[in-house]
Amino acid sequence: MKILSLGFMLASTLLAAPPGENKIEIGRSNFAAVYRVTIDRQTTVVKEKLFVDTEIDEQFANEVSTLKLLQHSRKHPFIVTMLASDNNSIEFESMDTDLDQVLDHLHINRDLPLVTLPADLKEGKDAYFHKALTDISRALIFVHAHDVIHGDVKPGNILLQFKNGMLVAKLCDFGMSHKKGTRDKPFGTMAYVAPEAVLNPSEADTSSDIWSFGNVVGACYAIFMQPTALVQQSAQQNRENFEEFKADFKKHPQKYYANFKNTPYYELIQQLLVVKPKKRIDAHQLFNKLQEMTQKKSNAESSELSFMQKFLLSLHIKKPSDDPEEYEN
Ligand SMILES: Nc1ncnc2c1ncn2[C@@H]1O[C@H](COP(=O)(O)OP(=O)(O)OP(=O)(O)O)[C@@H](O)[C@H]1O
Ligand SMILES: [Mg+2]
Repeated sequence: MKILSLGFMLASTLLAAPPGENKIEIGRSNFAAVYRVTIDRQTTVVKEKLFVDTEIDEQFANEVSTLKLLQHSRKHPFIVTMLASDNNSIEFESMDTDLDQVLDHLHINRDLPLVTLPADLKEGKDAYFHKALTDISRALIFVHAHDVIHGDVKPGNILLQFKNGMLVAKLCDFGMSHKKGTRDKPFGTMAYVAPEAVLNPSEADTSSDIWSFGNVVGACYAIFMQPTALVQQSAQQNRENFEEFKADFKKHPQKYYANFKNTPYYELIQQLLVVKPKKRIDAHQLFNKLQEMTQKKSNAESSELSFMQKFLLSLHIKKPSDDPEEYEN
C-alpha cells in the first residue's frame, strides 16, 4: 500500500524493490537513478540514491527541503510535484519526458522510448519551445520569490507533458538549490552555468538562473555559447578558462549574440546572457518579454490562423503571480 503526501513517507515495497516490469529506469546520473513505477494503475516517478555519500545526502536533503518550501500550501503548475520522500528516495508526479530528450529527438533524430510526441512537433517547434520557456519563466518567478536559486537550470531539468496537443513544462531537480551566500562550491552544469556560479559561487544570486535560462534558449536552437573545452572539464579545472571566456564575452558580446540572429530570441538573449549579473533582467521581466513576443506574433499573423496563433490563443497566459492558488484550475 502506497502512502502519498501525508507525512512525506515512502511506504511501498515495490518502490524499494529492484527494477522489473512495473519499475522502469528512465534516468541516471552519478548520484541517483530515476524510475517510473506503476502500482494499481497509478504511475509515479521515484529518484533513488545510488549509494550513501555526504554529497548525495546533501543534494537529496536540499531537494526535499526546497520542494517542501515551494509546495507548502499548494502545488505550482510549472514545478514538479513531490509526492513523498524518505532517507533514500523521493517520489514525484510522473511527466512524459524532459526537454533534453526532445531536443536530441529534434536535432539528432534520437528516438524517445515510451513517449508519444505530437505529430506537429517538428513544424510547430517554435510554438512548443515558446510555451516551455514561458512556463519555466513562471516557475522561476515563484522560486526566486522565495529567495531560492535553483542552481542547475538546463534542458534535462525541464520536464514536459504532452496532452491533447498541448505542452506543459515543469522545473525539476532542486538538488543544487540554495539561498544566496550559503554555498561556496561551484554549482550548475558547465554548458549552462553562469560565470559567477563557477568563479564566485558565494556571491551568485538568483540571476545566475537567468544566465542558465539564456543557455536553455540557445539549446532549443542548438546554439551552445560556452566553448566545448569548458563544458568537458570540471569547475575546478575550468577556473582559468572560465575567466578567459567571461572576459571575451564581456568585450565582444555581439560575437556571441550573432548566433541568435536567425531565432525569435535575438533581442531577448541580449538581456539574459549578460556577464554582469545585475544587468540581467529578472524572472518577472523575462516572463513579460516572452508574453510580449506572444502578442506580437499573434498580431503579425492575424490574417490566417496559423498553428502558432491557435496554440498561443489556447494558452490563456495570465499575469504572473507568486500565489500558486491563482494557477489552480
Ligand atoms: N517526475 C519525472 N517525470 C518524468 N521523468 C523524470 C521525472 N523526474 C526525473 N525524470 C527524468 O530523470 C532525469 C534525471 O532526473 P533528475 O534531474 O531529477 O536527477 P539527477 O540525478 O539530479 O540528474 P542530473 O544530475 O543528470 O541532473 C530527468 O532528466 C528526466 O529525464
Ligand atoms: Mg537533473
